[in-house]
Amino acid sequence: MANIHTPIPNLKLSDGNSIPMLGYGTGTAWYKSGDEGKIDQACIDSVKMSLGLGYYHQDGAEVYKTETELGAGLKQASIAREKLFVTTKVISNISDIPNALRTSLKKLGLSYVDLYLIHSPFFSEDKAEHQQKWKQMEQLKDEGLTKSIGLSNYLPAQMDWILEGAKYPPVINQIEFHPYLQHEGILEYHKKHNVATEAYASLTPVTKASGGPIDDILAALSKKYAVGPSEILLRWCIDQDVVPITTSGKEQRLSDYLRAMTFKLTPKEIQQINEAGKQKHFRGFWTHKYDEKDHR
Ligand SMILES: NC(=O)c1ccc[n+]([C@@H]2O[C@H](COP(=O)([O-])OP(=O)(O)OC[C@H]3O[C@@H](n4cnc5c(N)ncnc54)[C@H](OP(=O)(O)O)[C@@H]3O)[C@@H](O)[C@H]2O)c1
Repeated sequence: MANIHTPIPNLKLSDGNSIPMLGYGTGTAWYKSGDEGKIDQACIDSVKMSLGLGYYHQDGAEVYKTETELGAGLKQASIAREKLFVTTKVISNISDIPNALRTSLKKLGLSYVDLYLIHSPFFSEDKAEHQQKWKQMEQLKDEGLTKSIGLSNYLPAQMDWILEGAKYPPVINQIEFHPYLQHEGILEYHKKHNVATEAYASLTPVTKASGGPIDDILAALSKKYAVGPSEILLRWCIDQDVVPITTSGKEQRLSDYLRAMTFKLTPKEIQQINEAGKQKHFRGFWTHKYDEKDHR
């Protein structure tokens, strides 16, 4: 297994806080479709295992119904609170954001989270409503219940609404991001507005959409850097200042991913992946909200 002390770098956010540039998620494979009260021991064990490997950045959401498991894993791992970076998100209870965060904190067993996100913009198409929700997010930051506030799955036009008149601009936007879904121009938009980019599903080209135009490049780079294709994909994010989050129930995989911290891709290699990746389009999440040809 990779050296567990391999340090994960931090990215400075616009509000002065820092986020570790690789996170462990308690959604996707851990997402509970049934009774939230039925505790998933495997999820608790995985959170603990990931923390043991050094994944101090943990990503949760009320809608995953696994905040209790995440909280139990955090507690059992006994890592100093200030070393952890815990995210959760609101969407099911978007009608009452202050209460949603308080409920999440109770389940997590924490007095504050490091990052609180609006999970998606699809609850409303009304600018004023989005701005009103953002005011509630700002209030929670003022109350100290979250250190930072941000968005997830927002498009630039929707972020414009939030940025207009915000007391605290969103520090981050968590989006599906991989070579087959690059959302032309979004990284530039984020940089221009000091919004960091967080990527989920960054392993898509080797998982759900395997067999594609970047395969040969991934194989050549894996050989060059003596790592697996997943590590190349994680590094492709990190070298563009994008924070990837992943998940796995397998210790070996999570340990291997830490090798992404041991090398750097050249700008030319990033460009090669970008160009080849644009030859294929694949979206794995929120597909019911987008037309098949919509690459935003
Ligand atoms: N904001 C949002 O809307 C949103 C949406 C989706 C996800 N997320 C967050 O992002 C986190 C990461 O989820 P993700 O879906 O983005 O993770 P991902 O890193 O793209 O994929 C991880 C999944 O792929 C599997 N996998 C890894 N390598 C594989 C391989 N070589 N062959 C086959 N399967 C392989 C893993 O299974 P094993 O367990 O077998 O390793 C795991 O289930 C989630 O937990 C959640 O916190 C957020």
